[in-house]
Amino acid sequence: MHTKGLFFAASCISQVLAATYHLSDNHVGSDFLSTFTHQAIADPTHGRVNYVDQATALAKNLTYASGNTLILRADDTTVLSASGPGRNSVRIQSIKTYTTHVAIIDVRHMPQGCSTWPAFWETDGGDWPNGGEVDIIEGVNDMSPNAMTLHTGANCAMPASRTETGTPTGLNCDVNTDGNTGCGVQAPTTNSYGPSLNAIGGGWYAMERTNSFIKVWFFPRNGNTPSDLSAGGSSVDTDNWGTPTAFFPNTSCDIGSHFDANNIIINLTFCGDWAGISSIFTQAGCPGNCVDFVNNNPSAFSNAFWDIAAVRVYQ
Ligand SMILES: *[C@@H]1O[C@H](CO)[C@@H](O)[C@H](O)[C@H]1NC(C)=O
Ligand SMILES: *[C@@H]1O[C@H](CO)[C@@H](O)[C@H](O)[C@H]1NC(C)=O
Ligand SMILES: *[C@@H]1O[C@H](CO)[C@@H](O)[C@H](O)[C@H]1NC(C)=O
Repeated sequence: MHTKGLFFAASCISQVLAATYHLSDNHVGSDFLSTFTHQAIADPTHGRVNYVDQATALAKNLTYASGNTLILRADDTTVLSASGPGRNSVRIQSIKTYTTHVAIIDVRHMPQGCSTWPAFWETDGGDWPNGGEVDIIEGVNDMSPNAMTLHTGANCAMPASRTETGTPTGLNCDVNTDGNTGCGVQAPTTNSYGPSLNAIGGGWYAMERTNSFIKVWFFPRNGNTPSDLSAGGSSVDTDNWGTPTAFFPNTSCDIGSHFDANNIIINLTFCGDWAGISSIFTQAGCPGNCVDFVNNNPSAFSNAFWDIAAVRVYQ
């Protein structure tokens, strides 16, 4: 009796300490058409975009889901009227929400081109910013490397020095400070984003969220990736993944109270509050004015697509 009780207690403790998570949702190909919704909404970041619904996206082949492939792309054939709506594109959001979990994206290609502002991220749209926002893949105008960023309510900051391979770009996560730039970390290698990521066939991003930290790892397709992470099997152990690319500890931010149940979102907008800032657009080597560029150059969007092999969630 006693021995059994002790054994049971010990195995519970080891389960908590070993960071093992079990597969709860395996989104592949046409799964996305029933496990995510297309959001035909106005862009809160004022992009030159027209998000279409699922029927329209499928009819125009902006969303293509088959086998182990999900393509989400922008219209690359239409010259836009300056007074009309923006460029057709897609924003999808998971129906399920997640608190503590591991989310993995196996991405083959991400949108590229001047004016593009793609993101793979999580938030609670109904309670922003108090429910938190974790940007896992995000950037603008093909500018490498990738930025991983938290945006939160008040009283959440990150220490300058932490164990991560990336470089902090901001320490205050509170959206009401620093012009809502958030507490970001830049990945150490250019192959983490945009054309350089696409040139190597993409790779994997993984985000682990607990009540005491958030970690993000990037593994390029042509590198050494932990086999449980890339295999998409029934469980993963984040203890085996090494130093994260970005580490957001709870030192000056109670992670558990700043993040609630979040949806996973994949979107692609153009210009707007970040990509469209003229100094940023120009600095990226993009010509003229961002909105004019989007309106007049449909063929510049032929590589503005996501090609996603899977999004897996472990809990
Ligand atoms: C697209 O994603 C980024 C993620 O950081 C977000 O800031 C932006 O508001 C999103 N735009 C839309 C329209 O969803
Ligand atoms: C839709 O897009 C997919 C993926 O790019 C492509 O293979 C397919 O041929 C396209 N279908 C049509 C009807 O254009
Ligand atoms: C951070 O999380 C750890 C582990 O859960 C906990 O022991 C610690 O008290 C937390 N620190 C703060 C400042 O909340």
